[in-house]
Amino acid sequence: MKTMTKGTLAALFAAAVLGAAGAPALAQSAEDAVKARQADMRLRVHYLALLGGMAKGAIPYDAGKAQKAADSLKAMLALDRSRMWPRGSDSFSIDGTRAKPEIWDNLPDFVAKGKANGAAIMELAAVAGQGLDALRPAVGKVGQTCSACHKQYREPEQ
Ligand code: HEC
Repeated sequence: MKTMTKGTLAALFAAAVLGAAGAPALAQSAEDAVKARQADMRLRVHYLALLGGMAKGAIPYDAGKAQKAADSLKAMLALDRSRMWPRGSDSFSIDGTRAKPEIWDNLPDFVAKGKANGAAIMELAAVAGQGLDALRPAVGKVGQTCSACHKQYREPEQ
C-alpha cells in the first residue's frame, strides 16, 4: 500500500468535510442544524436520565457520579447554540425534526424557557453531590423546565 502523503491526507480531510458532492465550503443546511440540536438534546437526556434514576431510587445514589453528571449538564451551558435553530428548520418546512414552527413566532419565550432550564441546571450542579434529599427537588426542577419547553414547542412522537 502506498504511504499517504500530507497532500493525500489533506485531500481526504477536505473530502470528508465538504462531502463527496463537493458542497460549497462548510455551508450548513437546516438539516445540519437539526442534527446538531438533536445531538445536544440527546446528550442532555444522557446525563439527566442518570440523575432522574437516582432521584426515583431506580439507580443507587452515588455522590461522585451525580456531581459529574450535573457538572456535565452545566458545562453544556457554555455551548454556542445560536446556530442550531435557524428559521426554516421547523417541522412544517423540513423532514426529520419535531421543532414546531411556533418557536420562531415566539422566539423570546423560547429563549426564556431555555434560560429557565439553564438556571435549574445551575441549581442542580450546586447540590447534586450533597445527598439524595438535595438532589431530588433539583432534578425535578430541571425535568420540569425541559418539559415546559417540549409541551409547547415539540411535536409529539409519531
Ligand atoms: C427551550 C426549549 C427546550 C428545552 C429547554 C429543552 N428542550 Fe429538548 N427539545 C426541544 C425541541 C424543540 C426538540 C425537537 C428538536 C428537533 O427535533 O429538531 C427537543 C428534542 C429533545 C429530544 C429528542 C432528540 C431527538 O433525537 O430527536 C430529547 C431527548 C430532549 N429534547 C431532551 C431534553 C432534555 C433532557 C432537556 C432538559 C435538560 C431538554 N430537552 C430541554 C426543546 C427544548
